[in-house]
Amino acid sequence: MTTLGIAITGSGGATPDTALDNDTLSQIVETSDEWISSRTGIRERRLARPETQLCDLAVAASQQALEMAGLAPSELDLVILATSTAEDLFGSASNVQHRLGASQAVAFDLTAACSGFVFGLVTAAQFLRTGVYRNALLVGADILSRWVDWSDRRTCVLFGDGAGAVVLQRVEEADGLLGFELRSNGAQNDCLMLNYQPEAQSLVEGVTVSQGRYGRIAMNGQEVYKFAVKKVPEAIEKALFRANLSTDDIDWLVLHQANQRILDAVAKRLNVPGEKVISNLARYGNTSAASIPLALDEAVRSNRIRPGDTIAASGFGAGLTWGAAIFKWGDFYREA
Ligand code: ACO
Repeated sequence: MTTLGIAITGSGGATPDTALDNDTLSQIVETSDEWISSRTGIRERRLARPETQLCDLAVAASQQALEMAGLAPSELDLVILATSTAEDLFGSASNVQHRLGASQAVAFDLTAACSGFVFGLVTAAQFLRTGVYRNALLVGADILSRWVDWSDRRTCVLFGDGAGAVVLQRVEEADGLLGFELRSNGAQNDCLMLNYQPEAQSLVEGVTVSQGRYGRIAMNGQEVYKFAVKKVPEAIEKALFRANLSTDDIDWLVLHQANQRILDAVAKRLNVPGEKVISNLARYGNTSAASIPLALDEAVRSNRIRPGDTIAASGFGAGLTWGAAIFKWGDFYREA
């Protein structure tokens, strides 16, 4: 029987043009470039204009990924949009599918906050490994600037907007997804939330519904920090174990770009040298589901990550959710 697997054959990224640096941000809240850069490594972030849609960024990133993969949109069977900030609560993936011209693809949103890309990667891979689909597009896109409290210095300094995408293709007798580990812990849900705030509205005598609105991001930064530095190395180690690999086999660590201190602590715990850690958070901040594919795409386009390289990616965030995927970049099976 033929064994089916995946190859990740294209990547793309898109960020808004407007940049807000730490000094300018300190005109809005009581903070400083010194505080933000020493605690997080972030120096500036990109912010979407009011008229920019999430789909604009998602489509731009996707087109780049398709071009790199040499695939026409009409050849896609599946589009997954990992996002927590869809403009349409019913989902924005179909809009991306339509605007790309991916007429044959089924499209749906996947919500797992900053773990969305890793969760989406594993989800897409299942459809390809079973032989049901041949070509999949995974987009991670978020515009968190619409949901942060711009008067809360503990959170507004951290986030930025963007999109990143990858193309996954089915291959035979090889599998670029070497191992993964996905986890959730709803017991710590209150550490990071963007909640619906109900407002009771009476319709008729005895029938009351809620007509509320979504609030703003609320986060216990210290708890999230502790969670990340403990759980991310564990997840990567489990995924490596399933791949029958060790940390020495990792060419690149591509972690969710939340905080440079988290990246450094995770690398240290895993004994992965700093030069193998991809980081672009200084320029973009935390772009949630977009951060891993954005960082991956930059590293691919600058020829740091090369076909056949082994990547350990890990996402973590609200839910709480976290996960790791060990995968090979590019048409590795053709290079061999
Ligand atoms: N500027 C200046 N001072 C600040 C700022 C700021 N922007 N933010 C907080 N402070 C102050 C606090 O008020 C506090 O002052 P106090 O001691 O007088 O009360 C002091 O700095 C220390 O605050 P801490 O919260 O202890 O700072 P910490 O070193 O923990 O850093 C941070 C905070 C950067 C948020 C860190 O905890 C962190 O990175 N946590 C992880 C957060 C994260 O990654 N979240 C995203 C997850 S992904 C997702 O799903 C969206």
